[in-house]
Amino acid sequence: MSRFATGVTVVTFDGYDGPRGATMNSFTSVSAEPPLVLISVARRAHCHEHLLDRPFCVNILGAEQEPLARLFAGAPATVVPYWTPHARVPRLANPLAWIECEPWGSYDGGDHTLVLGRVTDLDHREGDALTYAWSRFGAATEATEGIEHLF
Ligand SMILES: Cc1cc2nc3c(=O)[nH]c(=O)nc-3n(C[C@H](O)[C@H](O)[C@H](O)COP(=O)(O)O)c2cc1C
Repeated sequence: MSRFATGVTVVTFDGYDGPRGATMNSFTSVSAEPPLVLISVARRAHCHEHLLDRPFCVNILGAEQEPLARLFAGAPATVVPYWTPHARVPRLANPLAWIECEPWGSYDGGDHTLVLGRVTDLDHREGDALTYAWSRFGAATEATEGIEHLF
């Protein structure tokens, strides 16, 4: 699986005592109508109980936000203040993109739970993406040309 390169997200939500988040790369889009996305949450993670029944936000990290990925994976990291004030659902400050979701369904995934969220709001900015492959963080440069010409 470490040969499968992914982006990196921090999934944020309201915890018992304020905003909380967890680094996740098991994120994928699922459906356009209705708009659904998927995350896979370890049953043993503290965030597991919270993510079954409440809104959450998938924050897609920019290349310079590796310290946030480490912080929300439980590793010590020095970071500047990182929450967006007054957000309806807690979200990070200035992610590359954010996708706000309400709970849609959750499904048995062995020692993980597959959580589907229905997209309620989203936005993005310009910039390079943080990546994860070979168990290492890296960066993907913002593309100047896509594959639009193929369609
Ligand atoms: C790059 C990366 C990707 C991760 N992806 C996931 C994931 O998709 N699902 C998950 O449950 N944990 C994932 N983790 C582990 C969680 O971030 C980690 O267990 C975190 O400490 C959970 O926090 P909590 O137990 O406080 O909720 C990932 C960690 C890293 C570094």
